[in-house]
Amino acid sequence: MPKVTSSWICQECGYTSPAYIGKCPECKAWGTISEEITSKKSDKLNLGIATNNSFHALSDLDLSEVKRIKSYDSELDDILGGGFVLGSLILLAGEPGIGKSTILLQIANGLSNTMKVAYVTAEESTYQVKLRAQRLNVKDDKQNLLLLAENNLEVIFSLIEQEKPDFLILDSIQAIYDPSLESSNGSVGQVKECANKILRLCKDKHITTVIVGHVNKEGLIAGPKVLEHIVDTVLYFEGEKFHNFRIIRATKNRFGCTDETAFFEMKDNGLESIANPSSLFISRNLVTVPGSTFTTIVDGSKTIIAEVQALVGGSGYSTPRRTSNGLDFNRVLQIIAILERRAGYNFSKQDIFVNLVGGLASSEPALDLSIAMSIISCVQDVPPSKKTAYIGEIGLTGEIRQVTKIESRIKECIKLGFERIIVPKETDIQKFKKSNSELIYINNIAEAISKHQQSNTGV
Ligand code: TYD
Ligand code: MG
Repeated sequence: MPKVTSSWICQECGYTSPAYIGKCPECKAWGTISEEITSKKSDKLNLGIATNNSFHALSDLDLSEVKRIKSYDSELDDILGGGFVLGSLILLAGEPGIGKSTILLQIANGLSNTMKVAYVTAEESTYQVKLRAQRLNVKDDKQNLLLLAENNLEVIFSLIEQEKPDFLILDSIQAIYDPSLESSNGSVGQVKECANKILRLCKDKHITTVIVGHVNKEGLIAGPKVLEHIVDTVLYFEGEKFHNFRIIRATKNRFGCTDETAFFEMKDNGLESIANPSSLFISRNLVTVPGSTFTTIVDGSKTIIAEVQALVGGSGYSTPRRTSNGLDFNRVLQIIAILERRAGYNFSKQDIFVNLVGGLASSEPALDLSIAMSIISCVQDVPPSKKTAYIGEIGLTGEIRQVTKIESRIKECIKLGFERIIVPKETDIQKFKKSNSELIYINNIAEAISKHQQSNTGV
């Protein structure tokens, strides 16, 4: 067996050092040196090696041989392209506390009815997991749901070898360490080496494996970013900790489409998928109030209705305040500037606060018109006269521009009973002639404001 040695390699420029150093002497970057295992191999090309492998003609490959495991939830299966592919490696990434361990325990519970599931917790004790299981109403007689609290990768592997589970969960990759490396848990070198070994185990033994990776706000902590190219599928768990609403997004999928999303609500007894997410954000039954308008957000394959709220008031400061929640701050500033220049408003002595309601976040330009009309509605203290949805991007000259997926946006508005839908002029409104909603197209922001006023004076 070749002797295992490790060296410290700069991830930016490839500089090799015999020991850890904080700053790379070659490219001067800080914190980029990570440990990697190196073993000297012969560099002679070995031809005529015995192998069981061979090339296959494309026509000989039968896709029905790709076996999938259905989870407990059809929404989750959809983002995976129809369930977990047998023997694939999946990364579930997200901020701490977002609900990764919760959903994995729910998945483990569902799957353990038909197969042996091993849940390795490297962060908590088995009792903590059992407490969570009680909260999730997991039955107490689960023989096929095996728990292990361990963070040494070699110990984990030898116990897996004994138990031979069909489905494996490792929570989390940052807490697991490979004892053959000197660096500490969670370092880039550890995370990469552990992930490579897990990948080999998953492929050699055909164990479908999910690994958990924590990310911070910037998505930079050693883990998910370096793991993305190793795994088959990357699922990102998103949401605000202080709201119950969560999104799982497939950002990479070797066995299905990316850009798929599933919506969940965190309840007292676990995560529940929401098949019709718009319903979550229109709890006020589309009641119109000053400073609030509705619009649509397209997220992956889903279109949802969202509410934009604005508050405009006299400022006590020489520089008025502007804040935005869930919206692109610079876009909000741009819309305020357009309203001043193209619609004759003056906000130089007014504070403006704009929010996307319900913990949603979007920087889509399609929200521009709704942001502008919420501000105008607040300034005029007049709500839209009917249940109105606003869809459109605003250009710097004040023109309303077309947005992506306009048809699915309009369909969602019609489905949810909007009486009026304001859209850019290029929209083919004839297609929706038969619906109960009135579609109105507009050319520019001044026209949108005058239509808002006219409708409120009964014109
Ligand atoms: P957790 O799954 O531990 O997050 P992660 O593994 O991503 O760090 O869940 C964290 C939060 O979810 C925690 O604050 C408690 C809350 N929670 C619920 O609201 N309902 C539940 O049923 C459970 C199990 C947790
Ligand atoms: Mg956890």
